[in-house]
Amino acid sequence: MGAEGLVEVVLPGKVEPEGLRIRHGAVPVAGPGQVVIRMEATGVSFAEQQMRRGRYYDQPPFPFVPGYDLVGTVETVGEDVEPGLAGTRVAALVKVGGWASHLVVDAADAVPVPDGIGAAEAETLVVNGITAWQMLHRTARVRAGQTIVVLGANGGVGSVLVQLARAAGVKVIGTASARHHDVLREQGVLPVDYRTGDVAARIRELAPDGVDTVFDHVGGRGIVDSWRLLAPGGTLVSYGSASTRDDEGSKQWPVLKLLGRVWLWNSLPNGRRAYFFNLWAGRSLARNRFRARLNADLTQVFAAFQRGDVTARIAAQLPLSRVADAVRLAESGTVAGKVVLKP
Ligand SMILES: NC(=O)c1ccc[n+]([C@@H]2O[C@H](COP(=O)([O-])OP(=O)(O)OC[C@H]3O[C@@H](n4cnc5c(N)ncnc54)[C@H](OP(=O)(O)O)[C@@H]3O)[C@@H](O)[C@H]2O)c1
Repeated sequence: MGAEGLVEVVLPGKVEPEGLRIRHGAVPVAGPGQVVIRMEATGVSFAEQQMRRGRYYDQPPFPFVPGYDLVGTVETVGEDVEPGLAGTRVAALVKVGGWASHLVVDAADAVPVPDGIGAAEAETLVVNGITAWQMLHRTARVRAGQTIVVLGANGGVGSVLVQLARAAGVKVIGTASARHHDVLREQGVLPVDYRTGDVAARIRELAPDGVDTVFDHVGGRGIVDSWRLLAPGGTLVSYGSASTRDDEGSKQWPVLKLLGRVWLWNSLPNGRRAYFFNLWAGRSLARNRFRARLNADLTQVFAAFQRGDVTARIAAQLPLSRVADAVRLAESGTVAGKVVLKP
C-alpha cells in the first residue's frame, strides 16, 4: 500500500502486546452524514489493557481495531454534511477503532478542538476529560468547600478529575504510588500511598468526619472501604474494576457485582448515595441527547485546559508501528500521563 493508504492496528485475540498486528488497506469512504478523520493522535487507555486480556465488560468479538478515542483532521465529508467541516481539527470518542490512520465517524460525533490546542494535548483530554467532567459535575455535583477522595489520582481519568475538582474549589485527597506524590502536592492534592499501610485509616485521619464523594475505579472488595469513608449525605461514584483486570472468568461479573452493591446500598435508609458511572449510558436510547452532552462537556474540558485549570500530561508519543512498546509502557505503571499513538 502507498503512503496514503489506511494503516490500522488489529487485536486478533487474547495476546501479549507483541501479538498486535498492523493491517494495511484502502482509506474508508464517508457515507451520508459521516466524515473521514485523518488521525493525528490516539492513545492507550486502561480499557485496552483490559481488552487485550478479554476483560473489558462489553468489548466486541475478536478480531477488532482497539482505540478508545482520537484527535484528527476531517479529511472528507459525506452527503448532508456541512462542507466547511473539512480541514478542521476534531476529537471523537469511539470506544474501539481509534488505532487507525483514518476513521469514519458520524459528523455529529466529531467535537471541534479549539485553535491552539495540539493534537496530542487534546488526545489526553478526550475520554479522560469527558469521564472526569461528567462524574464530577453531572453525577456527584460537587460544590466548593467539599472534600472528595480520588483513587488513582495520577492516572488518566484521575489526574484530570483532581485538577477539575481543585478548580471548582474542592479539597482533594488522592491515592497514588509514592513516586507521584510531589506532582499531586503541587496540584494542591493531599496524597496517600495506596501501596502501603491502611489506606482507609490514613484517609480517615485526613477527614475524620468522612468525605462528600469517593471516586473509585478500583472496585473489588475495596469498594466497601470507599463506601464507609462517606460522611452522611455523601456520594460514592464507582466507575471501574481495575483490581480485577488479571482475574479469570466472566468479564461482566466484576461490574455486575458492583451494580448489585450499588443497588443494595441505595435500598438502605442510610442517607448516602451510590452510583455506577458508565460513560455510554443512555447512548442507544437517546442518541442526540447523549451527543449534545458529550459535545458540551468536552468543550468545557478544552476551555478548562485553555484557562490553565487542567494540564495535558503526555508520557510518550509513539507511531502506530510501535504499538506494542506503547502498550507495554502504558501498562508498566512507571509513566505519568497518557501514552499517545501517532500515525
Ligand atoms: N465507567 C466509565 O465510563 C469509564 C470511562 C473511562 C475510564 N473508566 C475506568 O477508569 C479507570 C482508569 O482508567 P485510565 O485510563 O485513567 O487508567 P490509567 O491511566 O492506567 O490509570 C490507572 C490508575 O489506577 C491506579 N491504580 C491501579 N491500581 C490501583 C489500586 N489498587 N488502588 C488505587 N489506585 C490504583 C494507578 O496508579 P499507579 O500508577 O500509581 O499504580 C493509575 O493511577 C479504569 O478502570 C477504566 O476502566 C471508566
